[in-house]
Amino acid sequence: MLFQNLLIENKERIRYIIINRESKLNALNKATLAELHTAIVDAFNTATVGGIIVTGAGQKAFVAGADIAEFVDLDAAGGRLLAQHGQTTVFDVIENGNKPVIAAVNGFALGGGLELAMACHIRVASDNAKMGLPEVSLGLMPGYGGTQRLTQLVGKGKALEIILTADMVTAAEAHQYGLVNHVVSQDELLPKAEEILNKILLRAPLAITAAITAVNAGTKHGVNGFETEIEEFGKCFGTEDFKEGVSAFLAKRKPDFKGK
Ligand code: COA
Repeated sequence: MLFQNLLIENKERIRYIIINRESKLNALNKATLAELHTAIVDAFNTATVGGIIVTGAGQKAFVAGADIAEFVDLDAAGGRLLAQHGQTTVFDVIENGNKPVIAAVNGFALGGGLELAMACHIRVASDNAKMGLPEVSLGLMPGYGGTQRLTQLVGKGKALEIILTADMVTAAEAHQYGLVNHVVSQDELLPKAEEILNKILLRAPLAITAAITAVNAGTKHGVNGFETEIEEFGKCFGTEDFKEGVSAFLAKRKPDFKGK
């Protein structure tokens, strides 16, 4: 699969999706978002892929936001459509995916860039990373899920401060707020993301999907997360992986999960 704005690499069961518009600090234009949709769906549907790492090309930026140049001619209806289309085709797809997605935040993650990182299940940042939702300084507000996911991650008070001031936060501050899971040097960024993902890939894949579904359920309006947990927990008992996990434990050997 060939893309204009993405690089795709495979490392054993890890699929790298690298946003590759370095001269524009990897800003998300429409074409990049369309490619991201295709790349993510493909990774979720490819049996040999166990999990995904999303990162940005170069040393400077993860993603410096939605492509501001494409905003110029939009009116209110166009803006609404932009947000709705982006959320449903990319950001929600990542969050609700059947495989773990880790954002390796290697520099600026602003606006849609931070929203992309927040749609991923886990975030690792390099110590030079700077994050923020600066939309109000453009006369806009976050539209790719940022008001919701930032609030879920850091709480309402801190989310409102970050969104209303449009200030960037450092990687260390983001870690302190719970916005990123780990901060490491730039050299250590991808190894750390791989270390976490490889650990997850040792676990039972269907149980991982079930856990993602249940955790997400708690953040969805009108969905009872406890009920979802009961359903997903029950389904795990119907899998071959459950039988393998329990017999391996009792036999004091490592499990060999098949994702069935
Ligand atoms: N949309 C479109 N182009 C962008 C972009 C974005 N979100 N962010 C950066 N770029 C482009 C710049 O226009 C510039 O292009 P050019 O070389 O053709 O002029 C190139 O990327 C490099 O950016 P530049 O601003 O020169 O780098 P810098 O180191 O001086 O500043 C930032 C880096 C991230 C502080 C600055 O680029 C910035 O504020 N970007 C916008 C962030 C933002 O508001 N995002 C939310 C959008 S809703």
